[in-house]
Amino acid sequence: MNHALPLHANAMEKRERYREVILSIDALLDGEDDWVAALATVACELHHAFDAFDWTGFYRVTSAEMLTIGPYQGTHGCLRIPFSKGVCGAAARTKSTQLVPDVEAFPGHIACSSTTRSEIVVPLMHEGEVVAVLDVDSNAAGAFDDVDRLALESICEMLAVRFGKASR
Ligand code: SME
Repeated sequence: MNHALPLHANAMEKRERYREVILSIDALLDGEDDWVAALATVACELHHAFDAFDWTGFYRVTSAEMLTIGPYQGTHGCLRIPFSKGVCGAAARTKSTQLVPDVEAFPGHIACSSTTRSEIVVPLMHEGEVVAVLDVDSNAAGAFDDVDRLALESICEMLAVRFGKASR
C-alpha cells in the first residue's frame, strides 16, 4: 500500500484507494475464519489507507441493546455504548448507516475524542440482526461522503457474509 490518501483527495482517487484496500483485505483474509482476526485486519487496513481516518474500529453487540468496543486503531474509544446513545447507537438501533458531516449537529453524539468533527457508522447485519458496527471518526469536518458510504457498506457486507456466523 502507498502512503495514506491525503484528506482532500478527489472522488476518483478515493474510489481507487478503496479498490486497493478491498483487494488487500481480501488477500489478507483469504482462508481466515476468525471473527476478531477479520475485524482487526479491516480496522488496520482502513485506518492506514486514509489520512482522514483518525479513529477506525468496531463495536460488537455483546448483550441486548449494548455495544462493546472491538478491534480498533486510534486513541482510546468508549468501552461501551448502549443502542440509545450516540451515532454508533443510532446505527445499531436503525440498522442503517449514519453519515454525520458535523458531529456537533448530531443530538447525543458521544465525544470519545474532543477532536472528532465528522463520523460515519455502518452496521454489520447477520440474519436480520446487527452484530457489530464499523465506526470511522475524522478530525476534519465533512470528511465522509457517498464514496465512503458505498465502500464501507460493501466491506461490512463481505464481513457479515463471511464471518457473521462466527460473530456469536
Ligand atoms: N462518537 C461515537 C462514539 C464512539 S467513538 O468516538 C470511538 C458515537 O457518538 O457513537
